[in-house]
Amino acid sequence: MWEYTDKVKDHFFNPRNVGEIKNPDGIGEVGSLACGDALRLTFKLDENGRIADAKFKTFGCASAIATSSVLTEMIRGMTVEQAAKVTNKDIADYLGGLPEQKMHCSVMGREALEAAIENYQTGGRKKRELAGKVVCTCFGVTDREIERVIVENNLTTVEQVTNYCKAGGGCGGCKGEIEKIIEKLQGDKAGQVTEPTPRWAGRMTNIQRIQLIQQTINEQIRPALRAHGGNIELIDVEGNKVTVAFRGMCAQCRLTEFTMKDVVEAKLREFVSEELFVEEDKDSAKEPHDHRQ
Ligand code: FES
Repeated sequence: MWEYTDKVKDHFFNPRNVGEIKNPDGIGEVGSLACGDALRLTFKLDENGRIADAKFKTFGCASAIATSSVLTEMIRGMTVEQAAKVTNKDIADYLGGLPEQKMHCSVMGREALEAAIENYQTGGRKKRELAGKVVCTCFGVTDREIERVIVENNLTTVEQVTNYCKAGGGCGGCKGEIEKIIEKLQGDKAGQVTEPTPRWAGRMTNIQRIQLIQQTINEQIRPALRAHGGNIELIDVEGNKVTVAFRGMCAQCRLTEFTMKDVVEAKLREFVSEELFVEEDKDSAKEPHDHRQ
């Protein structure tokens, strides 16, 4: 018997925003009935480009219903750019946690949101394709998705990977390959591999690329600036141009140019893509800002 938090139970017994929006701006559909769960998410934007309404339909377990329900609440009021940064961990955290065997429901929520955003950004013209090479044929999970759940959730075992994305949970024929992916990423983390760019970076969608840029800023750049009373905010990503704004001490520092090129740009090139270049948004730096971010 799994232990569910009160919030999971609440959203399961009283799901919010069930249904489908008429004439939505974005539609995301992931999973399949054959695989045991599926989710359809629709959203509508207001005149300011914020998500005014979001609804879902799902076929799945209690956790699938609770994660879908809470996701529709989480993203209301967000811009598309903010919604694109929501991770499966954010969804699970919002529910106060999920049993590990049910974490794949939070991943399904994040995937549906990404699919809906991509649908909005492409005007529905482009059919969503599986990115990467299919590793688990039972559940149609690619190497890229496996790498992503491992990195974003700090996974270390095949069993955990199965809990997060189902890969390995059918015939088991892909477990050896999943093990190799885990070993490869652990080797990268330990610094045993010297290639500067993650091998999946070149094959990322725009949303994944922006998320990796944000993650690199959060984990590799911001802590160093904070140690000196400063901060940094990602403003925009356009092609290979990344626009950032410095906050706190960094905004007044005469060494900003140095920080931007030798710290920010260098880290983004190391962790995301060697083609990136960084520019400072000076106008935004003058605006009052909440330094708690
Ligand atoms: S191929 Fe992955 S479980 Fe069967």
